[in-house]
Amino acid sequence: MNKVLIVDDEKLICDMLKTELEKNNYDVTVVNNSKDAIKAIEYTQFDIVLLDLMLPKITGLDLLALIKEKSPDTVVIIITAYGSAESAVKAMKLGAFDYINKPFSMDEMLVVIKKAEEYSRKLKEINYYKKEREKKYSLDAIVGSSKAIKEIKELITRVAEADVKVVLIEGESGVGKELIAKAIHGSGKRAEGPFIAINCASVPETLLESELFGYEKGAFTDAKSTKQGLIELADGGSLFLDEIGDMPMTIQAKMLRFLEERKVRRVGGLTDIPVDVQIIAATNKILKKLVQEGKFREDLYYRIKVVPIYIPPLRERREDIVELANYFIKYFNSEFKKNVKGFSPIAMKMIMQYDWPGNIRELRNVIERAMIFEDEEMIMVERLPAEIIASSNRSMASGSFEIRIPQEGIDIEEVEKELIRQALTIAKGNQSKAARLLNIGVDAMRYRMKKFGFLK
Ligand SMILES: Nc1ncnc2c1ncn2[C@@H]1O[C@H](COP(=O)(O)OP(=O)(O)OP(=O)(O)O)[C@@H](O)[C@H]1O
Ligand SMILES: [Mg+2]
Repeated sequence: MNKVLIVDDEKLICDMLKTELEKNNYDVTVVNNSKDAIKAIEYTQFDIVLLDLMLPKITGLDLLALIKEKSPDTVVIIITAYGSAESAVKAMKLGAFDYINKPFSMDEMLVVIKKAEEYSRKLKEINYYKKEREKKYSLDAIVGSSKAIKEIKELITRVAEADVKVVLIEGESGVGKELIAKAIHGSGKRAEGPFIAINCASVPETLLESELFGYEKGAFTDAKSTKQGLIELADGGSLFLDEIGDMPMTIQAKMLRFLEERKVRRVGGLTDIPVDVQIIAATNKILKKLVQEGKFREDLYYRIKVVPIYIPPLRERREDIVELANYFIKYFNSEFKKNVKGFSPIAMKMIMQYDWPGNIRELRNVIERAMIFEDEEMIMVERLPAEIIASSNRSMASGSFEIRIPQEGIDIEEVEKELIRQALTIAKGNQSKAARLLNIGVDAMRYRMKKFGFLK
């Protein structure tokens, strides 16, 4: 039942409206002054508010602004006396849906309310999608509390605040490069602008140039009309250049020119068009190596690596595995309408030990697949893919504990740090348990955790 709030100091009108609206199945609340109206909207989410502008003390216009601020989903209809068209117009500008003049017939009122109801439904839907979109493009979408993730989040905030124009995100496949790119976009002043992504590896060379820079009519045989490129289309927002390592050399030259001049020239065009776009490039290849091999321009490399963000693979931040796994379980529980609570202890041990070459994407896929088939409360070992079970068997078989010094030597501090890290992972962060695993005291454990940066 739709909730309607009537705000009018004329009691007679209020009574009539209330009776009629209740007959039509609305849930009606009546207040006669602004103070009570403010209290009412504080506690209840109304779908529709009928608001008389002529209120003593706090005016209807102020109240309207307040309602729109507190509850953007609420639709407000203004009730106004003849001759106050001016304030009605003001109210519309402030976000009122419609207005109706006194005296009005109940039929008139019902028509307006019906329209408002439909609008309210659409408004809720739009606001819902807006919020969902904002969630995807925010820091909150990044799960994990490892030191690496915390540092990356801090860097994102700074990059977004300073509106840095070129960012390079590096990391293996599936570590979350696109997710980070979206968070950068959504955390700064560009959030309202477009976020456009293009994968340089999956578009053929000839097409990539016109995709990025656009073309003028007649630039080539197929150019029947002028087309804007993605750089232009991302004006005011961000362009995500995925797998920039695969960008052909000819286009790299054009890209460098764009980064230096901040202007694009369409293929076949004669004028330069200024564009304000944030370029977020990503790569899972080592660009430096590509430069050495002559496959990536050195000047472009230095131009884009001014602010690099490196996302370490999941196996180097195992602390995040449990948090990510729980996050995905929750996500797929709601997606599949299941009630899975977690992994069985052995399955958990296996996913903590596994190296996750496909990183977070692989973890997500493993959980998705397991949950489709799992009817138990826990995800059992049998649901895990063969490679995870096999790798776990291998590491158990080699469990006779043996350390070999590599030929090039090794830093003993690194070994110690690795042992501390592993102990903490196995003990799920429980310090005394971790200490017991290494046969040291809790104080000694804490000392080493501080020393290696596991504790602030
Ligand atoms: N920290 C994280 N928190 C939550 N989800 C994550 C996180 N990192 C990655 N994901 C999820 O993992 C999947 C892979 O991430 P994404 O596509 O951003 O990786 P990528 O680095 O761009 O991979 P590729 O190099 O293969 O393109 C996505 O579903 C993403 O939402
Ligand atoms: Mg990607």
